[in-house]
Amino acid sequence: MTKLLAKDLYELGDMPPLGEVPARMHAAVIRPERYGEPRQGFAMEVVDVPRVGRGQVLVYVMAAGINYNNVWASLGYPLDVVAARRKKGALENFHIGGSEGSGVVWAVGEGVTSVSVGDEVMLSGCNWDETASDIRMGADPMTSATQSAWGYEANFGSFAQYALVDDYQCHPKPANLSWEQAACFLLTGATAYRQLCGWAPHTVEPGDPVLIWGGAGGLGSMAIQITRIRGGIPVAVVSDDDRGKFCLNLGAKGYINRNEFSHWGRLPDTQDAAGMNEWMKGARAFGSRFWEILGERRAPKIVLEHTGQNTIPTSLYLCDTAGMVVICGGTTGYNADVDLRFLWMRQKRLQGSHFANIRQCRQVIELAAAGKLDPCLSWVGDFDETGLAHQLMYENKHPSGNMAVRVNARREA
Ligand SMILES: NC(=O)c1ccc[n+]([C@@H]2O[C@H](COP(=O)([O-])OP(=O)(O)OC[C@H]3O[C@@H](n4cnc5c(N)ncnc54)[C@H](OP(=O)(O)O)[C@@H]3O)[C@@H](O)[C@H]2O)c1
Repeated sequence: MTKLLAKDLYELGDMPPLGEVPARMHAAVIRPERYGEPRQGFAMEVVDVPRVGRGQVLVYVMAAGINYNNVWASLGYPLDVVAARRKKGALENFHIGGSEGSGVVWAVGEGVTSVSVGDEVMLSGCNWDETASDIRMGADPMTSATQSAWGYEANFGSFAQYALVDDYQCHPKPANLSWEQAACFLLTGATAYRQLCGWAPHTVEPGDPVLIWGGAGGLGSMAIQITRIRGGIPVAVVSDDDRGKFCLNLGAKGYINRNEFSHWGRLPDTQDAAGMNEWMKGARAFGSRFWEILGERRAPKIVLEHTGQNTIPTSLYLCDTAGMVVICGGTTGYNADVDLRFLWMRQKRLQGSHFANIRQCRQVIELAAAGKLDPCLSWVGDFDETGLAHQLMYENKHPSGNMAVRVNARREA
């Protein structure tokens, strides 16, 4: 049950007595009237602490991870998250993002037995209705019609002093991780894990070559390590040598600098023989570079995609016969051209993938707890730098790996 305090607002890091919930909180808020680049989209505000419903948990947030989805939320594109929620009956005209974080369980709703007030937890980024008929019939909850991305489609994410989650979104925080480390890698790590291990028979097995776009990014840094852990051979794509070296240190066999090629974007029309010829030259040269790194003429069994429009034609061309291109995003655009001849003649699979189920989240957390997976925390900012962190990401100027902001956690002396 929620107890109300006389003091209705606490400053960041000024911890109320355990379990006592103030009326208001500091939050990094996006509002429709500010939609645009993250530097303008986010603003520090004071808002009401959300009420805890049945099956829900209120978490005192210590640190929050930065992810691309709240770049999209700030832009108001491709989804106006506030309008979409209001259409479904939500009353708030603002968005508190943040799809992962770490903190302390502060209040639990009716029926919650899996966590208790005072537990130190990490938060995963999707929720669903556990009573939904598809889930009751045995569906992976990530494929349920009721599934939604917390801190993006669902409100009251981790960019606030208190976050509101469903109980199953709470995972025990490994003691070997700092608050900031625990906050930064679950979204990208579990997404990459599902992409690489969740789509049998296309799972990474020992000796399998894997091509990883954006190898130095959040997803990429996790994917390189997971591929190595599974005995696969990761080859990264990056845009400069510093990022390439970062990938090598994580275990990539080598890296391809995409700026050495220019065949990006949509495919020429199939009737345009000259254009198609030129495109094939670029794609073949890219493939030769892949072979050179691998030291043999083998194609990637799995291509880990999230870049979308600019890269999909190359991914599908390069992917091995009967291999899989697995995609979880479209940073460069959504009109991804598929030359169907490569798809059916070579019996390739183009698989959509979205975040991860609870088991996959736990598997990634266990890898980090065992010291096998480095969360790759590359940047920690203060809470009021939440917009700045997303702006760096939007401009692709952010440091390699994953980023976090301290919310209630204090800066190390
Ligand atoms: N569906 C899901 O559950 C899910 C989960 C996580 C992320 N995502 C999506 O996946 C995407 C990446 O997320 P992230 O956290 O890994 O972001 P990130 O840390 O910014 O990494 C993305 C990488 O993409 C590369 N990139 C940027 N522009 C590119 C281009 N034109 N061509 C090729 N590569 C390019 C960059 O590497 P270089 O410039 O070095 O090549 C960058 O490091 C986002 O769109 C995000 O929304 C989806």
